[in-house]
Amino acid sequence: MSKQGRPAPNEAAGKSRDGFTSSFGVLAATLGSAVGLGNIWKFPYVTGANGGAGFLVVYLLATLLVGLPVMIAEITLGRRAKADAVSTLRKLAPARQPWWLVGVAGVLAAFLIMSFYSEVAGWVFAYVFKALRGDILSSDPKLTSAAFGALISDPLQALLWQWGVLLLIGGILMCGVAKGIEAVTKKLMPLLFILLLVIGVRSLMLPGAAAGLSFLFTPDWSKLNAGVVLVAMGLAFFKLSIGMGTMITYGSYFRDEQNVPATTLRVMAADLFVSMLAGIAIFPAVFSFGFKPEAGPSLLFITIPAVFASMPMGHLFMVLFFVLSAVAATGAMLSLLEVPVSVMVGRLGISRLRATVLSLLLLALVGASCALSNSTLAGVKLFGMTFFDLFDYLSSNILLPLGGICICLFVGWVWGKSKLQAALSNDGTLANGAVVGVVYLLLKCITPLLIALVMLKGLGWL
Ligand code: PFF
Repeated sequence: MSKQGRPAPNEAAGKSRDGFTSSFGVLAATLGSAVGLGNIWKFPYVTGANGGAGFLVVYLLATLLVGLPVMIAEITLGRRAKADAVSTLRKLAPARQPWWLVGVAGVLAAFLIMSFYSEVAGWVFAYVFKALRGDILSSDPKLTSAAFGALISDPLQALLWQWGVLLLIGGILMCGVAKGIEAVTKKLMPLLFILLLVIGVRSLMLPGAAAGLSFLFTPDWSKLNAGVVLVAMGLAFFKLSIGMGTMITYGSYFRDEQNVPATTLRVMAADLFVSMLAGIAIFPAVFSFGFKPEAGPSLLFITIPAVFASMPMGHLFMVLFFVLSAVAATGAMLSLLEVPVSVMVGRLGISRLRATVLSLLLLALVGASCALSNSTLAGVKLFGMTFFDLFDYLSSNILLPLGGICICLFVGWVWGKSKLQAALSNDGTLANGAVVGVVYLLLKCITPLLIALVMLKGLGWL
């Protein structure tokens, strides 16, 4: 029951909560959320557009100093409260302090991200079929570009692929946390690693691969500025699924004996490994065939098919590559949609089935604005951006960092060290006092200050 205000309906009912059932399940689901199109679609093109290795260094720093502590904080809060993102902050905050609004902002962020994410995922699923049929097998980027243009500028196709993806994700979520999310991610994650290794090794064996590697690993500091640092930090938030209650929600499904800092570190390391492997799979191939890495969001859909078409056995590898991307997108979308679904179940007291259907309907509506961004609504711009670009920018560069600051301040200044210590050490079972000390110091002072500075400077307000 809540310490304050109305009890959440599902708390009052006193039902036992669905959750992850094994240590591997926890890891697979959490990694499934972190790993996604962020690694395979966003990371390569953002790194390409922002100068390669120099950007990578800033991104690594953002992951360690900002991403890691915020992720630990979110998971810990969720596990303590065993509730959805809004209820968790209501339960753990002192009476009459509106920290639960952070959870509400998280639900909003989930809808914004899911709107454009499900669209890109729709393109990926469409490309699995196109790759299988050999439709996009051309080494001429003009032809692959025309094929991509035809897909995204057809309103019906764009909408149908997006809604198809939403139905798939909704169907899995309806099966529950253990039987849906955990069961599916336990199968998908190993598959993802195998596919990525196969493609990475293939790409490294190409002639001229060294140029791609040096682009990824030799820093060019001249491209760095405040805006680029903000993008790197936004990417760290997006990558680790933090700042919007996703990890609070998944934390609430964690088992009590799970070592939270160790699990978080593993997830972060594995996520970085996937991004690097994706970079290693993509850049050498891009350079080897004389393409440009700065192609932007279309890198995955225009350059990559042309690259695969240029290599021996490219057809097979292209199919594998898009299956891999679809697999990665699925785990991430499950966690995105779980945020509003769990809040609806927890706060409105409706069944999981209804909450999922309601979320899907809302998303089909809001998401359509992104799906139609390249056709019917191409001319509609807010702040000079299409809905697709606006939702992407708003979520990564504003909503998630703001959510991150609030989580840090809440744990550092409101919840306090003794509660964090008790929660992170599994009530004294783990001897991790030093880890708790460092996490607490970061959360209380360093991380929120860093996020605020990067945001203000990156947005040009400082
Ligand atoms: N981390 C996912 C990716 O990198 O693709 C995207 C994401 C999932 C962002 C879940 C936010 C979230 F809550």
